[in-house]
Amino acid sequence: MKIFEQKKITWVMVAGFSTLLVVLINSCAESRKVAEKTGAQLWAENCQRCHNTPPSNTFSREQWITIGMHMQTRAQLTDKERDKIISFLNQ
Ligand code: HEC
Repeated sequence: MKIFEQKKITWVMVAGFSTLLVVLINSCAESRKVAEKTGAQLWAENCQRCHNTPPSNTFSREQWITIGMHMQTRAQLTDKERDKIISFLNQ
């Protein structure tokens, strides 16, 4: 009986560990997907939510950098995402 209970505990531990591993691998794949996104993709997904973004020649390079800093907080972007979007708009 005691052996049986120990086996049960081991089984629960294995199941728990596997679940954790699956969740971990999944979240890594998810963040890799974000990292692979281009500036154009990030721009389309984030910048059109609140307004239409004006064409890139509306503002100078410097103005876009400033706009990027302002809109980063509004769109809740990481620095990397912001840089990708701004270099896409500055092409
Ligand atoms: C949460 C809503 C929101 C998101 C997301 C957002 N913006 Fe804005 N944006 C605003 C608001 C509100 C204004 C007008 C007020 C201001 O200038 O701060 C604005 C203004 C602007 C302007 C005009 C600035 C000017 O000086 O006339 C530009 C260009 C712009 N946004 C670009 C972007 C870009 C690029 C992104 C994506 C990185 C973005 N926005 C994401 C809300 C948003």
